[in-house]
Amino acid sequence: MIKCALISGRGMGLMHGGNFHNHPDAEVVAVCDMDPELLAAAKEKFGVPGYSSIEELLAACDVDLMLMIVNETRRIPPLRQLLAAGQNVFTEKPLCGLEGQFRVREDDLPIAAAAISEWRDSGLKFGIDFNYRFMTHFRKLHDDIVEGRLGEIRMVRARAHFNCWSHVIDQILWNMGQPEWVSVMGDPNQEGGWQRMIQMQWANGVIGSLAGSNLWGYDDHPLRIMIVGDERYAEARGLEGWYRRREANTSEDEALWESEEGNSYQTSFPRMADGVIKAMHANESFPADGEAAWNELVFEGAVHRSALNNGERVWLADVEKAAMG
Ligand SMILES: NC(=O)c1ccc[n+]([C@@H]2O[C@H](COP(=O)([O-])OP(=O)(O)OC[C@H]3O[C@@H](n4cnc5c(N)ncnc54)[C@H](O)[C@@H]3O)[C@@H](O)[C@H]2O)c1
Repeated sequence: MIKCALISGRGMGLMHGGNFHNHPDAEVVAVCDMDPELLAAAKEKFGVPGYSSIEELLAACDVDLMLMIVNETRRIPPLRQLLAAGQNVFTEKPLCGLEGQFRVREDDLPIAAAAISEWRDSGLKFGIDFNYRFMTHFRKLHDDIVEGRLGEIRMVRARAHFNCWSHVIDQILWNMGQPEWVSVMGDPNQEGGWQRMIQMQWANGVIGSLAGSNLWGYDDHPLRIMIVGDERYAEARGLEGWYRRREANTSEDEALWESEEGNSYQTSFPRMADGVIKAMHANESFPADGEAAWNELVFEGAVHRSALNNGERVWLADVEKAAMG
């Protein structure tokens, strides 16, 4: 039985806590929130002791896993505190964004880099909730790529509403690895989520594009990813569950899958919890570990730097080196 402590009495936290608590191999044994009302509600929901600070939680509890479901604007200090105390941690995405998840800047990287370095040296388990990896349609696309059904990959085309932004980047990196460089149109000084048109290239010559906005809505799916190979091309769309594969240069479906349940998004969270618990039992890395969290942030840092410099090509390795110091 994996004993978990939940840090957060807010909606996302309670949802994750519930998923781990309902799993046959895990239970929430303590909760923590600095907000007294939210703490009281979380204590009642799980029927467990509650603490108003991480210091008190650490002093009172011996757990296997911390579910630290706090916001990207304040994720890194408690993460470092927990790692320093020898705790395994599962958290939400993106890893760090002091101006919020739609406005990750290169300045966010050195803040997170300290936590990543400490985690790499620690031998502890640390993972991030890239739960879209557990949606069936995105898994089908991933399997097509890694099992070679698309042939040699030539091109990637993606777009997303900003609500899915960290996830669409993770999907691209999970399927394709880090591109070598990005070149970006957009003005990071715009208010709110600044509009982004990203071009990128991988070391093996694959080319790609990703566009992001929150001015467009969900009507035409909040995200889409198409991967084009020299034998076949495939696309996964949306949060309900939609996936299609066709032979190259044809318009007939070779495979078409639509979710029967109609909500892949909801089911992806308990599947991620299950993946984390299985990794704890098997002593393996979490389904999306600290490297996945870091790589997504490096990509965003490079996007930010390129856009600030009129779309100049920015090498991700340079951004990573600058952040790691
Ligand atoms: N994976 C997905 O599809 C998905 C969907 C929606 C949201 N999210 C992410 O989930 C996260 C939700 O975070 P939030 O906005 O609820 O977080 P938040 O920072 O508001 O914190 C949640 C709760 O934790 C408490 N808290 C925060 N830091 C604490 C500390 N150091 N000690 C004690 N208590 C502390 C706060 O009082 C709050 O009640 C965001 O990062 C968001 O991006 C992910």
